[in-house]
Amino acid sequence: MRPRFPALSRLAYGGDYNPEQWPREVQEEDVRLMREAGVNLVSVGIFSWVLMEPAPGVYEFGWLDEIVDRLHVNGIAVDMGTPTATPPAWFTRRHPSSVPVTRTGMRIGTGSRQTACPSSPEYRQATAALARALGEHYRDHPAVVMWHVHNEYGAPLGECYCDNSVAAFREWLKRRYQDLSALNEAWGTTFWGQRYTDWEEIDAPRESHTAVNPAQRLDFARFTSDEHLACFRIQRDELRRATPDLPVTTNFMVTNCASMDYWAWAAEMDVIANDHYLEAERPDNHIDLAMSADLSRSLGGGRPWMLMEHSTGAVNWQPRNIAKRPGEMRRNSLAHVARGSDSVLFFQWRASRFGAEKFHSAMVPHAGTDSQIWRDVVALGADLARLGEVRGSGVEAQVALVWDWESAWALELEWRPSVDLGFRERMDAYYEALWREHVTVDFVHPTADLSRYRLVVAPTLYLLTEAGAKNLHRYVESGGHLFVSYFSGIVDENDTIHAGPYPGALREVLGLSIEEFHPLRENETVALAGEALAGGDRGRIWSERVRLAGAEAAGRFADGPDAGHPALTRHRLGSGLAWYLATAPGDLRAPLVAALDTAGVARPRGLPETLEHVRRGDHLFLINHGDDAVTVPDVTGVDVLTGTPCRGEAAVPPGGVVVVRLAADGR
Ligand code: GLA
Ligand code: GLA
Repeated sequence: MRPRFPALSRLAYGGDYNPEQWPREVQEEDVRLMREAGVNLVSVGIFSWVLMEPAPGVYEFGWLDEIVDRLHVNGIAVDMGTPTATPPAWFTRRHPSSVPVTRTGMRIGTGSRQTACPSSPEYRQATAALARALGEHYRDHPAVVMWHVHNEYGAPLGECYCDNSVAAFREWLKRRYQDLSALNEAWGTTFWGQRYTDWEEIDAPRESHTAVNPAQRLDFARFTSDEHLACFRIQRDELRRATPDLPVTTNFMVTNCASMDYWAWAAEMDVIANDHYLEAERPDNHIDLAMSADLSRSLGGGRPWMLMEHSTGAVNWQPRNIAKRPGEMRRNSLAHVARGSDSVLFFQWRASRFGAEKFHSAMVPHAGTDSQIWRDVVALGADLARLGEVRGSGVEAQVALVWDWESAWALELEWRPSVDLGFRERMDAYYEALWREHVTVDFVHPTADLSRYRLVVAPTLYLLTEAGAKNLHRYVESGGHLFVSYFSGIVDENDTIHAGPYPGALREVLGLSIEEFHPLRENETVALAGEALAGGDRGRIWSERVRLAGAEAAGRFADGPDAGHPALTRHRLGSGLAWYLATAPGDLRAPLVAALDTAGVARPRGLPETLEHVRRGDHLFLINHGDDAVTVPDVTGVDVLTGTPCRGEAAVPPGGVVVVRLAADGR
């Protein structure tokens, strides 16, 4: 059995620690301050390749030993990074063929990070040797409790178009298709006369004058995810050999990284670790945070996961780096814990004085300890110490959202029926509507076991395989409720349209077909009518001609190209029910509430939309994102942050957080 979490006695608290940027006096002050704040885990070494290996094959860990020993003496555990996201300048000079090439053919500049191609044999060999040396050196060090391989695979370096990549892509294709005729068929190469007669003719789908073969691009996206994952595995296996009892992970960016198929990656991790940064200017960005946390938990099959990075305040890479408002860091941190994280870690411990990230907030800001950020960091450490009892507990969800990276890749290729079709556009809309209804969701792959959910929602599932379609069909037949949005079930894994009228993969389960798409003009809307659609609501983005074949209409287009035809449908199949919504209504909550109620999804009623309400194990997290105090009825237990009993209700101050350990009969 692999270890699933680092061995710590409390929730993990800390962040990325880059002491190599500081003199010894500051390093000594660091550990004093870490103790003051209750820090118990820091990630070190993440960008230190050239310090660990100053010349080819020459390893120097003495400088790091001093730091790790000091942390250990002070009771702070180490998440040891492998520094392979920053190859040394000597490496690049020695192996110029390792430098990545972009889709437009530009060889990237160095002097940054992620400057080596994942398919470079020299890079792979050097990272394996370094991971081996690091693993052997720290195998018995009691401070080291886990491994943090690389940093954020997939961004900024996703696809690479260099010669090494093209050669590796051909090998990947040979493994996938065995013979060239299978590839020609899968890629539909009779279109535009693209038939290949030799593997060596195949190139990466680099930029051309006009649209490039979509199946080729989709396979290149799969190949890219697999190549980076192979790099992870090489290091992970070295580290597991040295330290079979330590968990190995890498930090994901579940909602921002479009280039990795994290379902495939998750299966290779001991524990899921995620980085999340607010889009500072976006109102209600805490809803995106909640989505990121729910997706992280779901990738780990519901087990506790690690928030590996977030920020105490502003970041430095957005157009306008807005500082967090008072209380926002605390709400953000505790929302991650509410949704299953057993850690609160930041980038980074101490703000850098130099380099590209010097304007990024940190636990110790440039202003020093006489600052609001530092006081908040200390207070958060105390909160987390009180919250230790939630460790290990799970979050129950009755609703699942179907999330498939392959479908996202395919949808966002060139020449779709409308530029307004976007994976995140629909996913965010559905997630947000459910969040505002106080419904906690899991995310699932289309082929996952769905039996435990009362309602499964597919907001955007353009690409759907036969296996995925069968799974959804079985789920409904055996009593599940499914809710599907437009432009789903259209193509198979090769971006080939499922035979017959749309949506080929979902026609039967939905009991309908689509005769023609009628995408709307920018800012055009169409009137909607029907009980399950909000009165007077209008649809955006999409209209289409739905033809019923077993389903019944639950709402109609009242004007526009499909006036009088169904916009919302319901189909009884076996003992289940399948809903279909053919537009983007202004108010998604109305049809979703109908689906939630029909499916019998339990949720609190009558709470303001701004109150986040999440049950984790025996604890109820109440996070008030609004400006008014909220009283939540039917809550009996103890607020573990203050020790205050809640007898029948919980009062949550504006911007505040209450975590109630529910009494046995509490709700
Ligand atoms: C041009 C091309 C055709 C086809 C159409 C699509 O006319 O000649 O091959 O691509 O555009 O509108
Ligand atoms: C990412 C990286 C960190 C740092 C932060 C800044 O998450 O992993 O090294 O660059 O962004 O927000």
